[in-house]
Amino acid sequence: MSRPRILITSGPTREHLDPVRYLSNASSGQMGSCLAAAALDAGYDVTIVSGPVDVNYPSDAEVIRVVSTAQMRDAVVEHWAGCVGMIAAAAPADFRPKSFSDSKIKKVPGKSEMTIQLVENPDILAEVGRMKSGNQWTIGFALETENGIERATAKLDRKNCDLIILNGVSAIDSADNSVALIDSTGTVVQEISGSKTEVAEAILKAAIELLPLS
Ligand code: CTP
Repeated sequence: MSRPRILITSGPTREHLDPVRYLSNASSGQMGSCLAAAALDAGYDVTIVSGPVDVNYPSDAEVIRVVSTAQMRDAVVEHWAGCVGMIAAAAPADFRPKSFSDSKIKKVPGKSEMTIQLVENPDILAEVGRMKSGNQWTIGFALETENGIERATAKLDRKNCDLIILNGVSAIDSADNSVALIDSTGTVVQEISGSKTEVAEAILKAAIELLPLS
């Protein structure tokens, strides 16, 4: 019998300007990998939709590799119906270059400035928040540099999440993390510090207690 399935987004996305250059961020996929391992241990099947990372994902997880935020969005929408919930641990690029050049962009002699126009990408977590039905749930991450609790709670509301995990910039590409779990009433229900493995296990445990995880 198949087990309930959790969808996890993980890693950064890349938004190409030309065949060799892209906009991205330093997300490593470690948190996504640790969450996948914790979910498998807790008795769930796992589908990971991941941007380009070097991290090793658990061999028992289904891994779908994507590059851009639009591709991550399409893969998530395709797999969402078969899942009980989603944990959005990815750091998808919020913007992409307005135009893509098929050939490498060349320097123009005498031109010392260049402007890149960006357009907004889809917000995957917000879109899934609108698609939720029945007992489906979503957990988001909020990376904030100031007014953490206030901003994370506003983000939870805007993206219709059931829980949001507040963390700081130091979490990016680090082996450790220090997070606060905030519920839909804006209450900090738990603070967790430790290795990403320990934090992921505690997040899964709290989610199982707080959400209608089936
Ligand atoms: N997220 C997403 N799709 C995006 C951007 C973010 O699914 N295009 C998800 C992330 O995976 C995370 C949550 O939304 O779970 C919050 O991401 P964060 O970068 O903190 O927030 P943003 O919505 O990008 O807002 P801002 O950058 O203004 O803080």
